[in-house]
Amino acid sequence: DLSPTDRAKFAAARRAADLVEDGMRVGLGTGSTAAWLVRCLGEAVAAGTRLTGVPTSRRTAELAREVGIEVVTLDEARWLDVTIDGADEFDGALNLIKGGGGALLHEKIVATASDRMVVIADAGKAVETLGAFPLPVEVIPFGWQTTRALIEEALAGLDVATREITIRTNGAAPFVTDEGNHILDLHLGRIGDPHRLSAALNALPGVVENGLFLDICDTVVVGHGDGRAELRD
Ligand code: A5P
Repeated sequence: DLSPTDRAKFAAARRAADLVEDGMRVGLGTGSTAAWLVRCLGEAVAAGTRLTGVPTSRRTAELAREVGIEVVTLDEARWLDVTIDGADEFDGALNLIKGGGGALLHEKIVATASDRMVVIADAGKAVETLGAFPLPVEVIPFGWQTTRALIEEALAGLDVATREITIRTNGAAPFVTDEGNHILDLHLGRIGDPHRLSAALNALPGVVENGLFLDICDTVVVGHGDGRAELRD
């Protein structure tokens, strides 16, 4: 039996799966909502739809193969018709925070290589202003404490509510991404100017990428606990 949130995630995924047409190259997102999407696309493949998938994480690659989707690398596909992925928050301009699952780097590269990015999310992820969800920043392991200090300095001049930074852990050790990097979670409460923050973060040595997806998403499919889903674009 599914919880209302899981029903909402499933409703969004099922609606988004209908957007995938025969022959498309599809970026496959990461996370619990994207996992529903991959299962729905597996059913479409079983029913005869031909599609090629580019996964955004090892986890998603495994699931995609399991459900019978042909998996290729981004370099084999080069460009994609659509990427369908989850998000941690989305605002009225369809800007996002992503990376709660730690896959933001591959997710951003794959989404940017796509003609269209569709986000699937339960209605609880809609926000007026981004930032209540801690912003994930992928940093290289070398000198990560120095990089954290640089981020602290950069935050001092920016319009945010709070400035706490934590290193994401996996047990006692720092969490390791698919690229062998670490994740710093920035607890900001409210991000007044996401474009300025994103540019400031990505200008620092040691920062690989941040979880703000700005002007990348074209459509959000919002799912509800009663099984309805609607498109916002
Ligand atoms: C993975 O790195 C994230 O960007 C996910 O897309 C995001 O955390 C949403 O995950 P859920 O669908 O599990 O909420």
